[in-house]
Amino acid sequence: MTNVSFFDITIEIKKEGVAKMKHLIDIKDLSVEEIDELMKVAKDIINHEEKYSHKCDGKKIATLFFEPSTRTRLSFEAAMMELGGKALGFSEASSSSASKGESVADTIRVVGCYSDVIAMRHPKEGAPLVASLQSAVPIINAGDGGHNHPTQTLTDLLTIQCEKGRLDNLTIGLCGDLKFGRTVHSLITAIARYQNIKLVLISPKELMIPEYIKKDILEKNHMEYYETTDIEEYMDKLDVLYMTRVQKERFFNEDDYVRLKDYYILNKEKLQQAKEDLCIMHPLPRVNEIATDVDNDKRACYFKQVKYGKYMRMALILKLLEVE
Ligand code: CP
Repeated sequence: MTNVSFFDITIEIKKEGVAKMKHLIDIKDLSVEEIDELMKVAKDIINHEEKYSHKCDGKKIATLFFEPSTRTRLSFEAAMMELGGKALGFSEASSSSASKGESVADTIRVVGCYSDVIAMRHPKEGAPLVASLQSAVPIINAGDGGHNHPTQTLTDLLTIQCEKGRLDNLTIGLCGDLKFGRTVHSLITAIARYQNIKLVLISPKELMIPEYIKKDILEKNHMEYYETTDIEEYMDKLDVLYMTRVQKERFFNEDDYVRLKDYYILNKEKLQQAKEDLCIMHPLPRVNEIATDVDNDKRACYFKQVKYGKYMRMALILKLLEVE
């Protein structure tokens, strides 16, 4: 009964019939054409917000966050509210019955009775996929461990498209925790499908991009990439600089985290050789990776990125709920 494609799983939801159920678990679940369509809708929402204010009247999103979040959870809730719908959910596992031992599968079956779509974040890689196999409503992966964060990637693609005017012919620097940073893993997976993308992977030796990403994505797609520990080495070549924080919650050893957490601090001085139209991004939260003196630089796009995130999630909700 189940199809192997994550985005397009056929499940039996009622005795009387079979329904096509769409989920977003991995950015690869969306084709380039589908991403283009989502970006088109997001841009239309930006320009004509009032047109969309009742599109989801009577609909509900459940946000099940087993891990902390500010942007992702609140932007999903704001997105649904701006479409005329409502939001419910929990923001930590300890306030849900997961703390009593309830499984993800059971939680999803229950919450599916109260909502039309579920956005879920979980510390375990693959938990949203497991949830999607049990769910009667669409599941959106809002981040699973160090694995994937597809809606952040949609946000990042929209930001690059709007700020640079293109998603091809770009040199993109990815800086910080490339080992545990799920936003980076998802972004590389997505951007690999566009033309003439060069990547500069900037990280401490201990936090280099995992081998499976190199093998399965960079090498398979014949992408040009460079690895360095020096944030300034390729600064003058970059069109986009994507900063990330060191993922404290994924470290086993506090001493290692303390040693690496401030490895890169982008400041005005380090930007001296950068292009005038560089786009500086960060999925946030920022800890120390970008000095606040960069915030007023016209190249700082990370707070705009937050706004794009809400519009992209509005477009995604419309698509998953099949609202015209
Ligand atoms: N970018 C992002 O996922 O932020 P939150 O952890 O605050 O949701």
